[in-house]
Amino acid sequence: MKKYVILISGRGSNMQALIDARLPGVCSAVISNRPDAEGLAWAAARGVPTCVVDHKAFASRDDFDAALAAEIERRGADLVLLAGFMRVLTEPFVRCFEGRLVNIHPSLLPAFPGLHTHEAALQTGVRVHGCTVHFVTPALDCGPIIVQAAVPVLAGDTADTLAARVLAQEHMVYPRAARGILEERCRLEGGRVIWTHDTTPAAAALRVPADE
Ligand code: GAR
Repeated sequence: MKKYVILISGRGSNMQALIDARLPGVCSAVISNRPDAEGLAWAAARGVPTCVVDHKAFASRDDFDAALAAEIERRGADLVLLAGFMRVLTEPFVRCFEGRLVNIHPSLLPAFPGLHTHEAALQTGVRVHGCTVHFVTPALDCGPIIVQAAVPVLAGDTADTLAARVLAQEHMVYPRAARGILEERCRLEGGRVIWTHDTTPAAAALRVPADE
């Protein structure tokens, strides 16, 4: 069975969605860069091994990333899932796990990379927002896209209401992407993600505001 690790920095709701999805693999560890990450207790209570690689204990980003990479390798991970892991990773780290390092980002990339995506969406006035699961490349938030989900931006939305609408989709698409990779139903080809047997029906368009 394939092994995967999940990296978190905080709440860990995406981690919970991944573990609850009973993916075809073994979660060999939940690793946090913060000892106080709330998600650690949730994972431990379910018998998932947890560990902390505290970024504050390292003099440099390179040293931290080397220790993190060693911990991931020690867990025998075939797949590394970043789930609210709020550290920028160095190029050597990303290269080391290229093709098996995946992230979820709360926007429809390439729109709104970086932080505060929901505030940016509201400020820009986009009518459609969402989330993206993608392979990680050295450039921040711009690797090959595996799955996206779109939600409407509604009149009266705040960053919090919009974040909640997007998060509900995150919890659906991240397990779907991870399952696809573990089952080898999607692969990287020429810098793009190809799904085998992609039978996605031609969905009706999401028009916002909706038709009258
Ligand atoms: C999620 O919305 C995730 O997409 C985002 O942080 C949140 C973590 O929540 N990740 C990023 O912004 C990465 N750039 P969670 O800890 O409850 O999964």
